[in-house]
Amino acid sequence: MYRYIRQTIPKIDLKAKVTGKARYGGDIKLHGMVYGKTVYSKYPHAKILNIDTSKADNFPGVVAVLTMKDVMGNNELFGGFHVLTGDKVRFIGDGIALVLAKDLKTAEKAQKLVEVEYEVLPSVFNIDEALAEDAPIIHDFAPGNIIPDSTHHLIKGDLEKGLAEADFIFERTYQTQFIEHAYIEPEAVVAIADAYEEMVTVYGSIQNPFSVRGAVADALGWSLNQVRIIPSVIGGTFGGKDEIASTLSARAAVAAVKLGRPVKIILSREESILESPKRHPYRFYYKVGVKKDGTITAMKSTVIAQGGGYNNKAQFTNWRAAIHTSGAYRIPNIYTEVFGVFTNTIHGGAMRGFSSPQTIFGQESLMDELAEELGFNPVEFRQINALRPGDTTPTSQPLGPGKIPAPLPEMIKKVAEQTEFVKRKEEFSRINEGPIKHGIGMALAMRGAGLGGEGLDATGANVMIQRDGSVVVRTGLTENGQGLKTAHSQIVAEALGISLERIIYPNVDTMTVPDGGPTVASRGTMIGGRALLKACEEIKQNLFKVAGEMLDCSSVELEIRDEKIFSINNPEQSLDYLKVVDQAVSIGVMLASLQWFSPGVANLDHHTNQGEAFPTYVWGVVVAEVEVDTETGKVEVTKVVSAHDVGTAVNPEAIKGQVYGGIVMAQGMGVLEEVEEEDGILKSKNLDEYLIPTSMDMPEMEVIIVETDDAFGPYGAKSIGEPATEIPAAAIANAITHATGQRIRYLPYNLERVLLGHKLTKKGVRP
Ligand code: MOS
Repeated sequence: MYRYIRQTIPKIDLKAKVTGKARYGGDIKLHGMVYGKTVYSKYPHAKILNIDTSKADNFPGVVAVLTMKDVMGNNELFGGFHVLTGDKVRFIGDGIALVLAKDLKTAEKAQKLVEVEYEVLPSVFNIDEALAEDAPIIHDFAPGNIIPDSTHHLIKGDLEKGLAEADFIFERTYQTQFIEHAYIEPEAVVAIADAYEEMVTVYGSIQNPFSVRGAVADALGWSLNQVRIIPSVIGGTFGGKDEIASTLSARAAVAAVKLGRPVKIILSREESILESPKRHPYRFYYKVGVKKDGTITAMKSTVIAQGGGYNNKAQFTNWRAAIHTSGAYRIPNIYTEVFGVFTNTIHGGAMRGFSSPQTIFGQESLMDELAEELGFNPVEFRQINALRPGDTTPTSQPLGPGKIPAPLPEMIKKVAEQTEFVKRKEEFSRINEGPIKHGIGMALAMRGAGLGGEGLDATGANVMIQRDGSVVVRTGLTENGQGLKTAHSQIVAEALGISLERIIYPNVDTMTVPDGGPTVASRGTMIGGRALLKACEEIKQNLFKVAGEMLDCSSVELEIRDEKIFSINNPEQSLDYLKVVDQAVSIGVMLASLQWFSPGVANLDHHTNQGEAFPTYVWGVVVAEVEVDTETGKVEVTKVVSAHDVGTAVNPEAIKGQVYGGIVMAQGMGVLEEVEEEDGILKSKNLDEYLIPTSMDMPEMEVIIVETDDAFGPYGAKSIGEPATEIPAAAIANAITHATGQRIRYLPYNLERVLLGHKLTKKGVRP
């Protein structure tokens, strides 16, 4: 019986957040602090001929104006971004100068006084323009505007043979949009230079402290041990405060070192939307072969991601897309090609799901279209083709007991039964006579858990018991609001057999733990948890050694539960945890452990992506119901039922919380959200023009937590953060299509598209 695992524990940082006491980056104020405001580009593509800072320099209250010449180290960051751009701008979010002033108001005024002379260059604004034969080139290192290293393949079986075996061949194209993360807290960082130690410390809304540390060190020309990154409490990130945090922190650190004063950069909402990355638009060209009995024989897909003016993620999101574009189906012959292109637009980056919401939209729209064409209902068709025990994944990893669990068939059945899918679909079709039409739709997915073959998935953990029995837990992973600290504390309390209240879990400090990689890919509980278990194991061994001597028994027969260390053979023989801790400290036994967990480098053929792409997978099935007003185009998402395989549910209510948030985020993707630009200039500038769902829009939601027997994660726990949001948009799109009888194939299914459907065309981006 677990004490903490599978228990709903309130989030350990809940009180500080709901009482407003939690300190975010924007709350930090320091003596002598100056405020930085960035001057952004006026054009999406232009040469910079001259930057005149004199007016801003002479403005009362301005301390300094920095340009690229002031960057002492490497001005070019990972992905081609610049600390400050000086020669050429590639999108309107390029930062050209940094104005530093005694207060924010002064900085904002002086921001407008920097004069930049441009020579405007021809631009490309979408995938087709970027790939046109005579297209202007955005980066010299990227001929044809193809993003370097962004091309990935998945090759399984023999595509041509598979297509030849099919009774029918279908071709379809789908496209998705740019989406803004719209976290509540806009970006804020504060850099403090320490001349005595020759160090710089950066606080703020930072999702990935270690890559930020690298960027700051690089920009200063310093070594990594001179840079200390300590994320503040984060008001949402969803992948967004990863790369932009590097740019902002590098800017602030350069200024702080230059001036010898603390520097704060805090973005307005407009600046945040302008400069931060977005969810990449993806386009999918599918060609698929199917037999009369509904079995899929082959699938070819060509997938193109729009990267924007810069890139530091498409090579990674595209790798994930290559693995997942053919879905969670038993398709023997697959050929997938994915690549990314630069455009003079806002840029794509990490966003919760990391390409999967896009691939699942394409894939699951296609599945519904195939079912319809062949005369199956969506449930039947998915049951025929869904992966099951005995099958192999698209990367040829075996599924089944003792291997990777494959619960899809039961999950489809359960969700279909619970939602009465087939019955409701027929009923809705019957009553859809008037202008208000009802629809129901299904979508499903598998998701590779963690980083897998995308990169090294290792992380460190540091657990220390103090003399009074209190415990300090640290990892290199960040609390982004997802509940990481709570889940990790549950794992530690369970493993050590102590009360959760004893644990304090400070935010990451890059000086106290090894580089734990980014807190992304729904890997926190799973990978961080494994490292924590190792640390707890070492500490327990030391505790038991001491207790064994005190009890005069062998340490291997000892166990700890509810803060009692006892002999398994003779449970009467027991000692209080605090007593053993005190004794251990007195005789000099260390009760601390720094551990490292790495699943190793994925055993994978990177040419075909056949092999162990991920250590394990999670599975999900979602059903959505909608009500569509065909006279206004308005879509009401009325109900969503989400079933997710989480391995072991560490904290069931926290999992539900993740799923509720994930559903609403997906609802935005499905029916509302699109960052719109015209010729590279933002039209969606703020949250009054860029609409996200509010509490008033939320559907009725039901979460089905599925547990599977999976040996990989700590106590069998896997992932929920991204799975929660990757599927519902596709289910909603399928439901709307059922209601209206019109498939749009372009997200979002917003008012205009639902109303005008295929008549609506959009330059260059509509398939
Ligand atoms: Mo993420 S999109 O894995 O931060």
